[in-house]
Amino acid sequence: MMKKLKFPAGFKWGCATASYQVEGGNSNSDWWQWEKQGMADNESGRACDYWNLYKKDHELLSELGVNVFRLSIEWARVQPEEGIFDEQALMRYREILEDLKSRNIKVQLTLWHWTSPLWFAKKYGFHKKESVKIFAKYVERIVGEFDELIESYLTFNEPMVPLGMGYLGGAFPPGVKNPMKFISAVNNIAKAHNATYEIIHKKNSQAQVGITYLYNWYESEGFGILLNAINRIAQWYRIDLLGNKIKNHQDFIGIDYYRLGKITFNWKNIKMDSRNQTYLGFTIEEDKENVMKWISYPQGLYKVLKQASEKFKLPIYIAENGTPTREGIDDKDRIEYIKTHLEMVHKAISEGVDVRGYNFWSLMDNLEWLYGYEPKFGLVEIDFQTLERKPRKSFYEYAKICKNNELEFEE
Ligand code: BGC
Repeated sequence: MMKKLKFPAGFKWGCATASYQVEGGNSNSDWWQWEKQGMADNESGRACDYWNLYKKDHELLSELGVNVFRLSIEWARVQPEEGIFDEQALMRYREILEDLKSRNIKVQLTLWHWTSPLWFAKKYGFHKKESVKIFAKYVERIVGEFDELIESYLTFNEPMVPLGMGYLGGAFPPGVKNPMKFISAVNNIAKAHNATYEIIHKKNSQAQVGITYLYNWYESEGFGILLNAINRIAQWYRIDLLGNKIKNHQDFIGIDYYRLGKITFNWKNIKMDSRNQTYLGFTIEEDKENVMKWISYPQGLYKVLKQASEKFKLPIYIAENGTPTREGIDDKDRIEYIKTHLEMVHKAISEGVDVRGYNFWSLMDNLEWLYGYEPKFGLVEIDFQTLERKPRKSFYEYAKICKNNELEFEE
């Protein structure tokens, strides 16, 4: 039997991307150097060349019928050297934002999605206290230039991920394992977030400002009390450690949800390997069929929404949700993923959780950080040789949902 679930009037349907993952040519960013040092599976190179082909991608957004597009600004592009802003790069971002406006697509702008300018990374880094002022200068310029073109802001994307990977696990830049620097970086990011919030609100009192949390659902198996305690610590680490420092500086909560993290313990694997998610024997169970070994768990999204709404008592925006697939396979997994997850979003809304919008990650295949171009996250397939864009079946399924503000599925 076909079942139809209507979403609230005015619900925002969107897609998300991030500058470094799609633009290409970001040679002034710290990730570029990280790639050159052989620390990731692929070099980003020209990526999807969104920087030049953005109109084609915006055309796809119009066809999709989304009313929001989440994108980010590449800090290194607009500020390639300390104290110097690149007027041409700013002009291009203006063109990009104006093109979205002309299509009646609202902008959700991320100010920092995991990459920093090389000069900043070399001389400062977020573990240095000067980073707060330096980041604020960048924000002032962006907000001064573009505020009238932006509907909502995300200050930092899931900062605990790059901070943990970069300052404890050593797998992301700056590639150190230093708890003292890690703590300083967390504190400075919290201060930079709070300063950014103030800067934006000073310019525009109506602005909507938030941050995103990687809010996967974690469960533990076996070892009862011990694993439950570990689970609680993990939850504190991922959400509360930073969340408590910024709790009065958020107009909404940005949730990025992807999967179930089932924590298990293996005596034979007592090592620290953050790239493979093994922390002194504690490891995350895997789905061998999935290209990134991620376990899809729609109910987790429902649980996360309930938990976040109780904890923060703020409107929620699902800023990212998606699944990686393999090249060339039929993307029925993605269609199934979208529908089962949206069913859970609808359930949470019907129980009173204030979810205002949903972004699918991602509009198109793109650079998946350490794993390069192998995992495919797009509603649109990209041929990285020719840069041809080809909508997948999931593109048309998602388009139906956006246009009708309704999820239709077989029960
Ligand atoms: C990040 C994206 C990334 C996606 C898939 C999110 O946590 O914000 O940049 O591509 O996960 O791994």
